[in-house]
Amino acid sequence: MTPPIVELDDVHFAYPDGQHALDGVTLSFGAGERVAVLGPNGAGKSTLCLHLNGILRPQSGTVRIGGTEIDDSSLTEVRRRVGVVFQDPDDMLFMPTVAQDVAFGPANLGLDRDAVQRRVDSALQMVGMTHVRDRPPHHLSFGQRKRVAAAAVLAMEPDVLVLDEPSSNLDPRSRREFAEILDALPQTLVMVTHDLPYAWQLCHRAVIVDEGRVAGDGPIDHILADDALLDAHALELPEGFSLPTQR
Ligand SMILES: Nc1ncnc2c1ncn2[C@@H]1O[C@H](COP(=O)(O)OP(=O)(O)OP(=O)(O)O)[C@@H](O)[C@H]1O
Ligand SMILES: [Mg+2]
Repeated sequence: MTPPIVELDDVHFAYPDGQHALDGVTLSFGAGERVAVLGPNGAGKSTLCLHLNGILRPQSGTVRIGGTEIDDSSLTEVRRRVGVVFQDPDDMLFMPTVAQDVAFGPANLGLDRDAVQRRVDSALQMVGMTHVRDRPPHHLSFGQRKRVAAAAVLAMEPDVLVLDEPSSNLDPRSRREFAEILDALPQTLVMVTHDLPYAWQLCHRAVIVDEGRVAGDGPIDHILADDALLDAHALELPEGFSLPTQR
């Protein structure tokens, strides 16, 4: 086990309207680990993601990144180290052009113009969106916006990449190509998905979240082979998909 880069200790969180979303989550992710976060709608997965770079803060419990607790004084450094691609790309894209959106984060890191441009070019190329760089994000399709949102986070070159349903709305080729990109990245990867074959392909560990709690955690081969566990948490492998016996 590599040293933990992300540690949650007994994290509780309720939204301002009183809706409980996390109910005592304790988890740790090692540097370089690739972890799938699985669970039914409303389980608390997106809420968990938003705790990993301090967008949401626990009501009680702690979140640590590289051993440092997330608080006001560590927030800038945490945002540099942990990149979260939101479930809804429209929560991330707000600049007049795609290139400006992808440049926003790197420019805020204080990189010079050329370095920012290199980051933008490379991130857009990674997600296959170079051809839309001068278009307004809100004129793109949902799948294209998802890819641009991913580019905006990749351009930050974070140590930890958190992706909330990266494959939803991607066409089959983009889905496969994006998996190849993720597979080649050395970073710690935390990926929320309902796409179990995608999770299996990219991650060696799976965490099941249900009703704001960790309901399962282990090697993904074991988790996905446990029919009773999957059934208890509304998880289903696609019709006709059987777990390959080797990778
Ligand atoms: N902004 C919000 N205000 C109030 N309640 C919220 C808000 N966002 C989420 N919730 C509630 O918090 C709980 C956890 O929601 P969350 O979005 O984390 O689930 P999820 O596991 O990501 O679900 P999905 O698979 O549908 O994306 C749910 O009961 C949800 O209704
Ligand atoms: Mg969600």
